[in-house]
Amino acid sequence: MKNYYIWTIGCQMNKADSAALAGALESAGYCRAASPAEADLVVVNSCSVRENAEQRVYGKLGALADVKRSRPGTIIALMGCMVGADDSELRARLPMVDYFFPPAATRQVLDRVVPDFACDGALGKGIAAGSWEGAVAAFVPIIHGCDNFCTYCIVPYRRGREQSRPVEDIVRETEDLVRKGVKEVTLLGQNVNSYGHYLRGTPDLADLFWEVNGVEGLERIRFLTSHPKDMSERLIEAIASVPKVCEYVNLPVQSGDDEVLKRMGRRYNVAKYEETISKLRDRVSDLALATDLIVGFPGESYEQFQNSYALLERVGFDQVHVAAYSRRPGTAAAHMGDDVSVEEKKARLEAVELLQERVAASINAQLVGRTVEVLFEDLKDGKWQGRTRTNKLVFVQSGRDIRGLLAAVQIIAATPWSLRGELA
Ligand code: SAM
Ligand code: SF4
Ligand code: F3S
Repeated sequence: MKNYYIWTIGCQMNKADSAALAGALESAGYCRAASPAEADLVVVNSCSVRENAEQRVYGKLGALADVKRSRPGTIIALMGCMVGADDSELRARLPMVDYFFPPAATRQVLDRVVPDFACDGALGKGIAAGSWEGAVAAFVPIIHGCDNFCTYCIVPYRRGREQSRPVEDIVRETEDLVRKGVKEVTLLGQNVNSYGHYLRGTPDLADLFWEVNGVEGLERIRFLTSHPKDMSERLIEAIASVPKVCEYVNLPVQSGDDEVLKRMGRRYNVAKYEETISKLRDRVSDLALATDLIVGFPGESYEQFQNSYALLERVGFDQVHVAAYSRRPGTAAAHMGDDVSVEEKKARLEAVELLQERVAASINAQLVGRTVEVLFEDLKDGKWQGRTRTNKLVFVQSGRDIRGLLAAVQIIAATPWSLRGELA
């Protein structure tokens, strides 16, 4: 019996890819190891979105070189977004790595490490669901790649063009997951709003919602991420009316300044973005909104940053994922210079975090005294943790095993990051 260990960094898509690989390796007879030192195969699933993510991967591989020195038979593979079409530089820099694989390379990894395994036949048969055994919430990729080429972003170069999975595959995978105890799925893609473009019959995300909604035993559907330019009225209507679709939308704005948005290649302006937010709020009651924002994009003046800051104040997001711009070689923005200093980027980032702490504290405080539906996922440090339909983290004390329970919870306290409640 052989053992595997997967280390993952990056977005939910990478986590889903790791889960699919784990499921496939287990079907091929591998067992999950508790640490790299006990594994015959170690896969590092990498992220390239910012330089600091890459630095962490290099650090991890440095530590794995020691593992390999003490156990020379250990196979080390680097998978994910750091591996581009030309991996010669990586090969020279990372002698401890035996194999390099692009993102979502389950089939290639299996072909390489278990060549006798009938990979083709097995991959379609619920293997991806395998590694979600015991989980309450799982990720289901619905569209791979990205066609948008935002000027700062490496993802389209590493994950290729958009490719939607057929509706039947997604429904079957969801059914497999529900049989394993999963109650909530997050439908994943870099831009789920363009789901279905090249599929026969061109189903869209609204059609997919209705199909997945029909899976018996499934309680909730989430979806990530939505591109603002593709948030159609039909989709807004579906979010409002498909019962299992949760009232939570992550709509990355990236900047609150029209000129910066243009140079980012985002193809909407601030007015259009806010119009979409208004439509969503009009149609979906109790909606929670999240966004992604980049500070210090090439040429971003202080005034332009303040436009982003003002947008965040006006909209009042439940969550903001803010990042300092990181130059990605090979992208269009890499040629625009990187002229906002590290200190200034840091100051802008901290200003956004401080503002968001205040905004989220005030939004969450309004929930104190209210009763909300919580799906419990895990026990951590003696407290059960779950999420509301609006994706808020809730902690509850209970002596019972309430994993997988969908229950009414009365909120008794709130912070900007989480809520505390009692089973009602
Ligand atoms: N597809 C999603 C979208 O349209 O926003 C998410 C893509 S990316 C994997 C996640 C986030 O990383 C982006 O929303 C963006 O805010 C951030 N990001 C991407 N490239 C970046 C860069 N070069 N520097 C800093 N942040 C970046
Ligand atoms: Fe990157 Fe833009 Fe695609 Fe999102 S939509 S993955 S930010 S290129
Ligand atoms: Fe995700 Fe990082 Fe790739 S954020 S898509 S793993 S570059």
